[in-house]
Amino acid sequence: MVPQVRTKEILKQFNLSRQTLYNWVKDGDITEPEKDWRGWRMWTKQHVEEITNTIRKKEEQFTLPIDCDQRLNIKNRRYLGSKYKLLEFIWKVVNENCKGVNTVADIFGGTGVVADRFNIEGKNIIVNDILYSNHLAYWTWFSDEPIDFNKVEGLITQFNNSNPLEKNYVSEHFGGTYFTEYNARKIGYIREEIEKLTNHINFREKAILITSLLYAMDKVANTVGHYDAYRRKLDSLKEIKLLVPEFKDSNNKGNCIFNEDANELVRRISADLTYIDTPYNSRQYGDAYHLLENIAEWKKPEVSGVAKKMINRSHIKSDYCTMKATKAFEDLISNISGKYILVSYNNMAQKGVGRSNAKISAEEIVEILKMKGKVSIFDTDFQAYTTGKTNIEDHKEILYLCEISR
Ligand SMILES: C[S@@+](CC[C@H](N)C(=O)[O-])C[C@H]1O[C@@H](n2cnc3c(N)ncnc32)[C@H](O)[C@@H]1O
Repeated sequence: MVPQVRTKEILKQFNLSRQTLYNWVKDGDITEPEKDWRGWRMWTKQHVEEITNTIRKKEEQFTLPIDCDQRLNIKNRRYLGSKYKLLEFIWKVVNENCKGVNTVADIFGGTGVVADRFNIEGKNIIVNDILYSNHLAYWTWFSDEPIDFNKVEGLITQFNNSNPLEKNYVSEHFGGTYFTEYNARKIGYIREEIEKLTNHINFREKAILITSLLYAMDKVANTVGHYDAYRRKLDSLKEIKLLVPEFKDSNNKGNCIFNEDANELVRRISADLTYIDTPYNSRQYGDAYHLLENIAEWKKPEVSGVAKKMINRSHIKSDYCTMKATKAFEDLISNISGKYILVSYNNMAQKGVGRSNAKISAEEIVEILKMKGKVSIFDTDFQAYTTGKTNIEDHKEILYLCEISR
């Protein structure tokens, strides 16, 4: 007798939704399976082959000609807690309330959009994050190291046109979950090629190629925007496409880029204004973005669990997501030198022990900042900045501005 399996097992094996599978049968891509005495569809080896071929064909359909005219921008990524929608509010508060600000330090930089907003205004910026993947992005956007643009563009085109067939670290660990097998293979191949180029390109060129790859991964990842989990059904079949960044280097002279714990960094730097946007709750950014970090570092570590996280993430663990947050904040503020400190926080999360509870209360922020100087508070109705999907009443984004006098 031909070995047969149930629909449930097929869906699990290929990470497909029932609807997708039945549509393929309806469209004639797969032969209609026979039903057993209970009326359950039973799938044979031949069906498995047909499904494999159909998936491959669907992936190929998405191999569209690459439009290289489109340029990559700093904001083209999904990131938890990004202040992209609050940039004008932040700029307005600084512009209207601070004097003599020539240097701005964004020491929990994330995407770097806040640093970018000040860089556009001609300020010198100091930008930092504990994650190496973000650090590489800062080298792309904020460094003034000269690059060979044609070489970078040529390599990106070459990567986009590649069609790797061999399995690699990424396809073996992340194929069929976060990415299609094909995209995973391509990501692993491109990252390896970038590594091989190390002695032929400068550090910024390498950072640009990796950044372009990380941003492209975000666009095709089968996630809701972070890598704590992947969607059970792999429906994101679009082919990965790297874009050439849009460079605005004219303001980059004098910028400084770091990749370290902000509490250590503030002991060595001085900026007219230090902007602080720590994580608010127990969700570690190193967990949410472990996969980008893995590809950025390219040490090909062992991964574990359903989410396939690197086992050792201790170097990217933040005190701000733990019970130590208030103490860390106090230590940070006491070591800042300059004219102003600007802190972002929102009023929705109450302090508590839950995963989404804030680790530092509004009262603690004010109390700690007051030890440094005069504090003013600004808020904005967050509703004004959303697409209207959230109905949370009274959600305000808050900025605490401290004029340093002590
Ligand atoms: C709320 S996000 C910042 C978002 C950023 N303002 C933006 O608009 O994209 C907090 C960032 O702090 C980083 N981080 C957490 N702990 C850190 C530490 N001790 N030192 C430096 N960066 C840290 C995280 O990796 C994360 O990118």
